[in-house]
Order: sequence, then structure tokens, then C-alpha cells
Amino acid sequence: MSQTLPIPAEAEALNQRLSPVLAALLSDLGRRAYFPAKGIPKQSQEAKALAHKSNATIGICLDDDGEPMGFAPAKRILEAAGMAPKKILPYPPALGLPEYRSAWQKRLIANSKGILEGRIGLPIPTFGITHAIGIMADLFLDEGDTLIVPDQFWGNIRLTATTRSKATIKTFPHFNSQGGFNVTAMKEALAAEAGCSKRILYLNAPNNPTGYTPSKKEADQIREALQQVAADQTPTLIISDEAYFGFFFDDQTIDRHLVSYMADLPKSMIPVLVSGPTKELCVWGVRAGFITFIDLAPEDLEVLEAKISGMMRAYNSFGSALIQSFITNIMEANDFHQEEARVRAKLRERGLAAHQEAFKSEYLRSWTPYPFNSGYFCLVKLAKGLDANSVRLRLLADEGVGTIAVGKDNLRVAFSSTPTKDLPEVFASIDRVVQAMLSGEPSSPN
Ligand SMILES: Cc1ncc(COP(=O)(O)O)c(C=O)c1O
Repeated sequence: MSQTLPIPAEAEALNQRLSPVLAALLSDLGRRAYFPAKGIPKQSQEAKALAHKSNATIGICLDDDGEPMGFAPAKRILEAAGMAPKKILPYPPALGLPEYRSAWQKRLIANSKGILEGRIGLPIPTFGITHAIGIMADLFLDEGDTLIVPDQFWGNIRLTATTRSKATIKTFPHFNSQGGFNVTAMKEALAAEAGCSKRILYLNAPNNPTGYTPSKKEADQIREALQQVAADQTPTLIISDEAYFGFFFDDQTIDRHLVSYMADLPKSMIPVLVSGPTKELCVWGVRAGFITFIDLAPEDLEVLEAKISGMMRAYNSFGSALIQSFITNIMEANDFHQEEARVRAKLRERGLAAHQEAFKSEYLRSWTPYPFNSGYFCLVKLAKGLDANSVRLRLLADEGVGTIAVGKDNLRVAFSSTPTKDLPEVFASIDRVVQAMLSGEPSSPN
């Protein structure tokens, strides 16, 4: 039988310091979360500052000379990679290495044309953006809550929101009849939750799976819509997932963080950016993301940081000094900006080539492309009656071409992983398979 446990006193003390909007947004777990003020990390932090004779606090091994013990190969490998063992081997601070957080903060300010300056604290490092979204879900989403998302969304959100948090996903149409972001539908979906105890919206631009990012005009409209919806005073969290930030292919598209359009919203709305190096800096397997709240009062930010570091302490104790140093070093390298420009130009070239192929008039008998202008992917809606997974399997069998089936009748093509010269053949293959299936021809594997 389930029993409601009392909220720990330290968590309750944090809750008392929160503004009413954030207090209303917290989930049960969020209300219970705290970073133990007298726990081992805190005690050892104090000892680090004051124990001038001996520091017998934290569970790491120090050599007789006070350096982290470490295996010789570990030290060798780190030094060869330009990383100081004494920085990497001990535990990092609970919320991560300050220089790493500040490098990402500077980047966010630059990538928002300065708008986020003075509106964000040091971003909170996570193990990838999925982890950042998971923490947001744990902190804010309860069983029975609703997560509002556009109907084209990254499938993993379902796992986080429904399987993990036992919340319900409510979708609104991502596109309007002109093929733009459906601001009206977003507004209606939010308005339908007016007066609920809280409201949580998840936006994603560039979008997975469609590769669509709102235009500058649409981003202004999103801001306006949010401002209007805020008149109902319902506490609202807006999670802006900008995992693919920077990969934009046309001049109408926003050229700064979507979340920067949400600066200075009424106090009932709390925007939070989840983004990170994973896709932006091409370090997919390294697992690095960030949580960045916008326009939070310092006291609210301090409380949320304490709650998030408490939850991290419960899941993985600390972040990874290795990952954080590695990425800091990448960002400080002389050729960092040059490399970033090279990768973005390459994706732009592929995105434009994919666009040209996907929208070719002769293919429109086989599919209707969704609008796209950014990101890693594009998505096509297959001709009526076709099952996306059957097309995907036949494409593999007959043509040796791999794609992803999304929902019943959409196929996603990752141009990010396809050389530009191969893109025409990828789309030609899809067309051949679709036509063969429409005319009932049997599969003929190559
Ligand atoms: C929209 C979106 N957000 C987040 C992620 C996950 O990012 P990460 O690999 O950093 O967890 C993905 C990707 O796979 C994604 O498509």
C-alpha cells in the first residue's frame, strides 16, 4: 500500500524560498528534492578550504605528495590529451566545472545575439540533452500531468513523459495550412489548460523529425502568443529543446536561440533551454548537455540548482570531469570557430541538396515533403495507403538504403549522415520502392 511520506525538512526549507509560480510547477519529486547541506560533498568542500594540515574527508586516494593517486596509464593518457590528471581524476564540483559552465554560458549569450546576457546563470551540465529533459520531467512532471507538444516530436519524449513520469502527452498540429509553425494551434492548446494548477509546453527547433525551425516572424508570433496566453496567470513551464541549434539553411529562419524570443515573458511563464554539445559540437557519444533557465530570480535559481544537484547526487553522484574538461578544451581551441563553420556549411550544403531532391515535382506522386529549413533530418509523408515501416524494410531489402519510419506513414531521411553526392540516389531509391509497392510489384532485392 502506498503511503505519503513527509517532505524532508531541508527540501521544505527550499520550497518555502520559491516564488509561487515555481512552487506550483514542481512535481512531487521536485518538492522532495534537496542537496544535503551537511552531506559528504559539503563537508569535504569546507575541508578543502580550511583543512591546512590533513584533509581526510572525501573518498578518493591521494598520494603521499597530495596528488590524486591514479594509475600510471590513466595519467599518461590524460597528459597526452593535454588534460591535467589532478583536474580530471578527483570528483568535480556538484554542478560541474566552473570553466565549462562559463564557456557554455558565453556561447549561449553569443548565440542569442546578447539577449540572454544577464538573464541566465551558469548553465547546469547534464549527461546529454536527454538527461536534461529527464531532469526537467522529474522536477516538474507528475503522474496525470499533461505535456503539450507539437504533433511532430522526437519519439524519446514519449518514453520520458509517459513511461518515466506517467504523464499524458497532448499534441497540437505542428504545421499550419501554409506549411509554417502552427502558432494558433499552440496557443489554443495552451489556452485549453487555462486554470489548471500548471501547464508544461515542450518545443523543439530545429525539430526532429521534420527539420523545421520557425522563421523570425513566427518566433515573434510565438512570443506574442505566449504573452497573450500568460494573461490567464496559469503557472507555465516552457521547455525549449534546441539540440540542433546552429544548423539553419535559409535566411528567414531564426538565427538565434528560440528561447531568446521568450526573454522577459510575464512571471507566470518560466522558459528553460535544454541544449548542449552533443549535436552542436558533434560529440554525440560523449554525452554532454545543459539546462539553462531564463529570467529566473536569483533566489529561485539557487533553489532549483540545489534541487537539481540533489537529484544528480541521487542518480549519478557527480558529473564527469573528463567530459567537461574535454569539451572545454575543444571550445578553447584556436580552430574551434573555423571547425564549427565548416560543419555548419557542410550540413547546409546537404540540407539544401536534400531539399532540392525531396521537393522534385516527379517525386510528389510518391510523397509529400514536410517543410524543412534546418537540423539533421527531413521527413516525407508517403503516398496514401503505404505503411512507412513496410517501405522502410523494402528500401533496405531492394535498395540497401536505410531510413527511419516515423508513425504510420512518414519516412525520415538523415541528410546529416549522407554525403551530398549520394542524396539524389537516396530519394530516387525511395521513389522506386514507393512506385513498386503502389503498383503491387514483388520485392526484388539487389
Ligand atoms: C530533439 C532532440 N532532443 C534531444 C536529443 C538527445 O540528445 P542527447 O544525445 O544529447 O541526449 C535528440 C536526439 O537524438 C533530439 O533529436
